[in-house]
Amino acid sequence: MAEVPHLFRPMQLRGVTSRNRIVISPMCQYSAHDGHLEDWHLVNLGRFATGGAGIVFTEATAVQKSGRITHGCPGLWTDSQIPGHARVAQFVARHGAVPAIQLGHAGRKSGMQRPWFGNGPLNEDDFARGDMPWTPAGPSAIPVDDGWPVPHALSEDDIAALLQDYAAAARRALAAGYQIVEIHGAHGYLVHSFLSPLSNKRTDGYGGSLEGRMRLALEIAETVREVWPDDLPVFFRTSAVDGTEDGWQLDDTIVLAQRLKEIGIDVMDCSSSGISGSATGAASGKRQPGFQVPYAERVRHEAGLAAMAVGLITHPQQAEAILAEGRADLIAIAREALVDPNWALHAAQALGYDTSFETWPEQSGWWLSRRAMFSDFYQPE
Ligand SMILES: Cc1cc2nc3c(=O)[nH]c(=O)nc-3n(C[C@H](O)[C@H](O)[C@H](O)COP(=O)(O)O)c2cc1C
Repeated sequence: MAEVPHLFRPMQLRGVTSRNRIVISPMCQYSAHDGHLEDWHLVNLGRFATGGAGIVFTEATAVQKSGRITHGCPGLWTDSQIPGHARVAQFVARHGAVPAIQLGHAGRKSGMQRPWFGNGPLNEDDFARGDMPWTPAGPSAIPVDDGWPVPHALSEDDIAALLQDYAAAARRALAAGYQIVEIHGAHGYLVHSFLSPLSNKRTDGYGGSLEGRMRLALEIAETVREVWPDDLPVFFRTSAVDGTEDGWQLDDTIVLAQRLKEIGIDVMDCSSSGISGSATGAASGKRQPGFQVPYAERVRHEAGLAAMAVGLITHPQQAEAILAEGRADLIAIAREALVDPNWALHAAQALGYDTSFETWPEQSGWWLSRRAMFSDFYQPE
């Protein structure tokens, strides 16, 4: 029998087994109401589970109401938000994928426009729609860019309260049935803004040296790790580089990864950029296929921490090569999963792992295998 492709080898993470290495990356939908998930989220995320992914992430979910990116972002700051998440987690798990959630706080970028309304700071048009502004939070009173609101610099008491809110949100995520929690430490949001010397100009113990700037990230990681059961994994998403000479560097990421590993973080999810401007790394500017893979590769080899590669990974053979070459442990797919929610099922066919729709949900696989057998009309690639 042919060797199982790397992409379809199960991965054991503490007590959790992912059926393959394909992860649906967190993707904001800007469609929650007062932080509560809707039918949209269930259908959107459900299709990725039935589409064969190993792990399905619910989007950036705010630990505080004021930590939402937009008015349409979900939260877990109150118990009434648990049932919506439970519905998603239950469906995803029932269809063979591991339900996962990203917890975050948008920091300086809290309370911005939904992308399709401009992706910038809220303006009069948004106010007219009922999306009113609030004062965002940051390490220092430095806005993201000209025209953005000046954030409130968090006090040490604010930080203590924030840590409690991370713990409470993680407990709610667990109650909802998620098996993996990821700390959002990327894209210019709160944790990243503490890490980066471009946005963190503090003179107390949460700023200054690399150690000081890492302190919030490490305290959040410790807090979440303490709440999250020992048999369930915790991921950390990082912006591995800011992309400027005076910003956060890849060497800093390696140090952070080593420290996170000591705390018991299981996987570093390696994204990049976003410290200024609105967009995430992958969405801003022209990028090459797999442009962030070198970050995962270095984290994996130099920090000895399992690494997830993300960013313009679109082809099954490309994903397979990244794993086969030992450059990452997991492959996260975002926009290509919007193009094809069955990306994992199609990848199994493209890599010869599935020859007769046997990995497809039985509701469709049975019919499709017969169509393939008895018709010239369609054959999988
Ligand atoms: C619609 C959309 C929403 C996103 N929301 C999040 C998010 O909630 N959290 C996050 O860390 N990244 C978010 N991202 C970034 C993706 O997770 C991913 O890192 C990025 O799109 C690069 O991967 P890709 O080239 O496969 O799309 C989002 C991307 C898209 C397209």
